Amino acid sequence: MPRGTYFFTKDFLWGTATSAHQVEGRNENNTWYAWEQEDGRILEGHQSGLACDWWSGRWREDFDRAQAGSQNAHRLSIEWSRIQPAPDRWDEDALDRYREMLVGLRDRKMTPMVTLHHFSEPFWVAEMGGWENEAIIELFAAYVRKAVEALMPYCQLWVTINEPNVFAFSAFVDGVFPPGKKDLKQAELVLQHLVRTHARAYHVIHELQESARVGAAVNYRGFIPATWLPGDRIVAKVFSKIFNDAFPHALQTGVFDVIHKKQSLPETADTQDFLGLNYYTCDKIRFSPFAPGRFFSRQFFPKGALLSESGTIAHVPGGMVDAVKWGHQFGVPMIITENGVDDGEDDLRPQYLVEHLHALWRVINNNYPVEGYFHWTLVDNFEWERGWTQHFGLWGLDRETQARVRRPSADLFAEICRTNGISSEVVEKYAPDALSKLFP
Ligand code: BGC
Repeated sequence: MPRGTYFFTKDFLWGTATSAHQVEGRNENNTWYAWEQEDGRILEGHQSGLACDWWSGRWREDFDRAQAGSQNAHRLSIEWSRIQPAPDRWDEDALDRYREMLVGLRDRKMTPMVTLHHFSEPFWVAEMGGWENEAIIELFAAYVRKAVEALMPYCQLWVTINEPNVFAFSAFVDGVFPPGKKDLKQAELVLQHLVRTHARAYHVIHELQESARVGAAVNYRGFIPATWLPGDRIVAKVFSKIFNDAFPHALQTGVFDVIHKKQSLPETADTQDFLGLNYYTCDKIRFSPFAPGRFFSRQFFPKGALLSESGTIAHVPGGMVDAVKWGHQFGVPMIITENGVDDGEDDLRPQYLVEHLHALWRVINNNYPVEGYFHWTLVDNFEWERGWTQHFGLWGLDRETQARVRRPSADLFAEICRTNGISSEVVEKYAPDALSKLFP
């Protein structure tokens, strides 16, 4: 069997990604807190509670872990409801705390990437109609101005909105995120507001910081027609156009093209300096006359693919290649802003990690411009409507004691970050099932 190492490019960013509501704890003034108080919204009635207790300062020990694991970057998000707890009030203490975290990253020689919206907004914004009211564009711009003014000495890489596509679908098609609606028309309107909000924020950030690099993190999901029947091929195309393409296409061209209408939004053209790509899994898709609420489609995982613990992610590393090739059409460099798998036992994660990274290495070696990789996630955290039932961390979390429990994948990822590559020794040690595939 051949021996060797797949090396990544010089200055490649290696890190993990987290989000405020999922790790901070005691976030009690946003849409998710309110959602968690309602019966039946979160699996097993779970609540975010103390989460990973970052707000009291435990980010320090987790950043130490990331640093000891040779990560040279970290993606975190800041919480709008903390910075602007009421329409007419800014909380300078909250900004100080975020400033401390960013300085904490700098001290550990880790490049920060800051996300400005990751699925949650202040409750007062929701009371004004949230994402259905176009007033959110200016409200968000004011928050971004305040936050970026305070934090720009410590950060140049900004993600305006995390997964606008997942957010619009989960909150307005599937109804599993607040405000829990199932209304395709509203979903389309919300996506359009998300596009315009991003574009406005893009310009605000650049006005304040010339050296800023601004993008959004889009979730790419491959939709593979189940058969060659025209119905299956059409729904795959339609779904991909709405879910994957609509948002970044508008940011590139200034044209918002969904189902009902093509709209010209010239102010949104050329508003991304990089494309953040979140890739987890892909689906087979089939035409179904019985699913009007899901664009007449039914989705399922490719036959034979290994599944994650909760069965919500299929292990399809080739999808990483498709994701990057797809992302390339938008004409800007890419950063993998999320990729990971729920696996409390760490059975599948080592294989998932090395096979996805090897797929990424392949496309990078074909000259596709990818600048970094952020694994989801550092420590198990609050998984939205799935509560604490899913375990995405390189480290587990004992919620009673707040103790972190190291998984073998933490060491595997550390070796990859330390050497800037995937070696046959490391694969043999941590993911022997992948050895013959990666080093045939
Ligand atoms: C989201 C994360 C989430 C992860 C795993 C992504 O879609 O951005 O917040 O925890 O998926 O479910």
